[in-house]
Parts: sequence; C-alpha cells; structure tokens
Amino acid sequence: MDTINIGLLGLGTVGSGLVEILRQPQPRLAARRLKVTRIAVRTVTPERQAQYPDIALTTNSTSIVTDPNIKVVVEAIGGRTAAKELITTALTFGKHVVTANKDLIATDGAELSQIAAAHHVGLYYEAAVMGAIPVLRTLRNAYAGDPISRITGIANGTSNFILTQMIAHGASYDDALSLAQSKGFAEANPANDVDGLDATYKLLILTRFAFGMSPTIDDVSIQGITTLQPQDFVAASIWGYAIKPLAVSELTPDGLCMRVAPHLVPLAHPLAAVRDENNAVLIDSHNVNRLSMVGPGAGALPTANSIVADLLDLADNIHDGNTPERFVDTDTPAVVADAAH
Ligand code: HSE
Repeated sequence: MDTINIGLLGLGTVGSGLVEILRQPQPRLAARRLKVTRIAVRTVTPERQAQYPDIALTTNSTSIVTDPNIKVVVEAIGGRTAAKELITTALTFGKHVVTANKDLIATDGAELSQIAAAHHVGLYYEAAVMGAIPVLRTLRNAYAGDPISRITGIANGTSNFILTQMIAHGASYDDALSLAQSKGFAEANPANDVDGLDATYKLLILTRFAFGMSPTIDDVSIQGITTLQPQDFVAASIWGYAIKPLAVSELTPDGLCMRVAPHLVPLAHPLAAVRDENNAVLIDSHNVNRLSMVGPGAGALPTANSIVADLLDLADNIHDGNTPERFVDTDTPAVVADAAH
C-alpha cells in the first residue's frame, strides 16, 4: 500500500493540530499511511524546521499545490482569495483537497466542487462546520431518505464562549474575547465571530446539505452578540431563559427562513446547557423527529480531528481503488423536504 503524501498549507491552530494528531501512534490511522511531507508557512526559521524534522517547510505554497509527489492538499490558511487560488490550482493539478475554510466553501463551494468533479478528485470540508461535530457526513449519509424541516445550531464557538464567560463568570466582553483569542477559538478577525458572519457561513453550508438549496448571505437575517447589554442577561435569567447565539434554517410555508442571532432559550432546553466553545446542532426531520449533537466547535485538536476524518475517507477511497466518481460525491445534499412538512 502506497503512502499518501499530504501537503499542508498553514501551520496555525488547525494545521499544527493536524500534524499533532498524525504523529500520534494510532494503529487505525497508521494503517492508512497518511504522511505530511511538506508544509507551507509564512516564514521558515531553523528553530521551526527543527520542530518538524521529517517535514519540509517552505514559504512557497504554489510549489506544494503543483508538486507531483503530493496526492492530497490540506488547506488551513483561511481567508478567501489566496486560499481559493491555491485550492483551484491543487484541484486542477489532480490533487484531492481537504479544507476547514467555511468562508470560502460557503461562498465558492459550488464552483470549487465543479472544478473537483471535472478533475475527478475530491473536495472535503467537514472541519469547516462545527469543529469536531460530524454534521456534514451525518446530513449527507443519515438523512438521504429523511426530509429535514429545520436545523438549529450553536455554530460559533467564540460567541458561545464569550456569552458563557459573561453570564456564568461575570467576565467583561473584552476579557472574554481576549480569552477566546488566546485559546485559539476566535478567527484572525474576530469581528466575523461576534458579528455573526462566521455562523452565517456555516449555516449556508448546512442549508446546502440539509435542504439541497444554495442560498446566499443576503438571504440570512444576521445579528451578532455585540449589541447585548448586561441588563439583557439579568432579564433573561429572571424569566428563566439563557441567551444563546443560534443559527436557524427552516422550511416554512413561505419558503426557507434563515437567521443568525442571539435567542432567548428556556433554561430546560438542551441548547441552554451548551456552554463555552461547544457547538450544537438539532436536526428536525420527518423520520427521525429530532437528533442532537453537541461537541467542541473550535480549537486545534477538535477541528483537526474532522480534517483527519475526511483524510480517512479519502485514504479508504484511494486505497480501495475506487472509481473517480467516488471522490466527487462530497457535496450531495440530502433529500429536499416538503415546505408544508
Ligand atoms: N472562530 C470559529 C468559532 C472557529 O469560534 O467557532 C471554528 O470555526
């Protein structure tokens, strides 16, 4: 069985988490023969290279996405423009791509999936949505025959973390945000987290998988957590509610309705107990009724673990010698629910 050489773009929170996981001696992982051989970083220093003695560091990302010895590219640099160019080049050069880039997948995912399909390679992005929670593969596989009527999620770990710190520990907004940044939950530009944009990107991807529709950001009503005042928390608690940053996508008789905003959630509701950087998703559907998943929505190892899950799928397809069509099935939506359901 041949080794699958991986080129990693970016060695930030998620990229370093991936290298750490792949270094762990896990027999089931080792059996897939996945190996990071090259990493693109902003600067290469002898000290940094010494930390990764068996991996070649480079500042030249393009040399990785065009390298004939690289079979899979993992994109972990984030942002849209450079990442799109690099992913497009990698796919065009016949490399499978795994990414955690929700901004890019939410806005350009359909186009990139088409490029992947045209080159008979896979584009995988479980890590882009809700960190460690395997929500995309659940929607794709378990809901192929079950019409979904609503998805309700806590999709931004930073917002949930900040609200938890403020409510449960009395922290100030600024201190809570600084803590989220120091723990590696927040985006490079945390405005995307606290203004609701990050959750919106994830909701757009979830909606594609859950409802087979491709709405845009303009279709979502968006409100962040920055306008909340201390008296809001007091009032909520007096009346028996928690304030949670929710992302909701639901079919109504008038069509698809999507919103991202802080919501009042009864304290007895399962989402009220989801704290810190945890994410959660409730899927309402015809057959299952309601399924819930809760888990870390951000952080190095939880997010990298979802990249590893994609790499394992990819490795199984490669090692099994599956037909190219197996690789292009990564953006197939579940069945579309009847709006009246
Ligand atoms: N900044 C994101 C969050 C990271 O807080 O949820 C995971 O996408």
